[in-house]
Amino acid sequence: MTDWSDTEIADLAAALPAWYAAHQRELPWRATRDPYAIWVSEVMLQQTRVEVVIPYYQRFLAAFPTPGALAKAPEEEVLARWSGLGYYSRARNLRRGAGLVADAHRGRFPSERQAALALPGVGPYTAAAVLSIAYDRPHAAVDGNVIRVLARLFALEPPRDRSMPLLDRLADRLLDRDRPGAWNQAMMELGATVCTPRAPLCDQCPAASACRARRLGRPESFPAPKNRAESIEVRGVLLLLRDPAGRLLLERGRWRLLPSLWLPPILADAALAPSLPGLSEAGDLPRALANRGWAERAHELRPLGAVRHTITRHRIRLDVVAGRSREAFPTEPEQEWVDWSALAARGRSSLIEKALRLEQGVGVSDPARPESGRVRRRTAEAAGGQR
Ligand code: ADE
Repeated sequence: MTDWSDTEIADLAAALPAWYAAHQRELPWRATRDPYAIWVSEVMLQQTRVEVVIPYYQRFLAAFPTPGALAKAPEEEVLARWSGLGYYSRARNLRRGAGLVADAHRGRFPSERQAALALPGVGPYTAAAVLSIAYDRPHAAVDGNVIRVLARLFALEPPRDRSMPLLDRLADRLLDRDRPGAWNQAMMELGATVCTPRAPLCDQCPAASACRARRLGRPESFPAPKNRAESIEVRGVLLLLRDPAGRLLLERGRWRLLPSLWLPPILADAALAPSLPGLSEAGDLPRALANRGWAERAHELRPLGAVRHTITRHRIRLDVVAGRSREAFPTEPEQEWVDWSALAARGRSSLIEKALRLEQGVGVSDPARPESGRVRRRTAEAAGGQR
């Protein structure tokens, strides 16, 4: 399977746990063996950096300390606690999974792999991580960090370095069956802090002498870059429409990229052509408004600038347009006029934060919003990234 000798394997088996014991970061989920808490941490960590996750993890567990508490909470409240972490299907799956754990497993995350894999959102990685860390089950957890470590240790070239069966077998061969949870976390930690994608710190690595990628003198070239899936450009208008009381019109379920969040109306229409002066590519806003039945309802339209946002492969640019409605016209289902305090209590995408910052930046103040004020700043184009 590899050209590593038994002695090299044995050396790594001793060196990595010693390195981990001395260098591991103190992280809140490392101070518990509660499978539910570890599950929450692993789901949060799937797409999000450790520093970002820590405060979310702590607040989430304080709000929903058990699977039963999470399952009973309204989905909206769960999404509110998740807001800013992105990839909201993770939160919905976690809540649904918590319901199954509460009902079918007497409130305890199952300790068998097959039962764990049957929970929504739990794949081979999450199952292996939770079972090894919480129950010392001998499953190797192979995430992106671990793939990089393995690809370098064994100098795996494509297509072998993308073959999950091979990566799983290598990870399984190395796994410390006496302390699988610590071993898995040591591999992840090595990838996160030493065997980094760029400029790996090989002089601090407990596996440096055996690492085949280092012997070749080019650790950074492993694993070979993936052929990136092409990104999809999305353009549109985000409408900050306020009623005479300063409340904002929000709706849910109408924009397919974030269907579960309350958002200002997003008029995304590839066929829109430029119309409102100052709008770059957003196009025929009056027609888009007419399509929604708002042609006579949105007045004093002012382009505020653009926000960028990324959701998986979608690279989104939205022209933000502020408008006034002369009345709080009646809303349809899943549509509401919302004041600042109600807005703060909702699951809020960072997209809405970016748009509101832009509105604040050009001095449109929200009477219901305490910290709102005039700031002389015209182009508050927010960087994308957080979903
Ligand atoms: N990334 C995924 N799981 C992790 C863990 N348990 N500790 C640190 N980083 C992680």
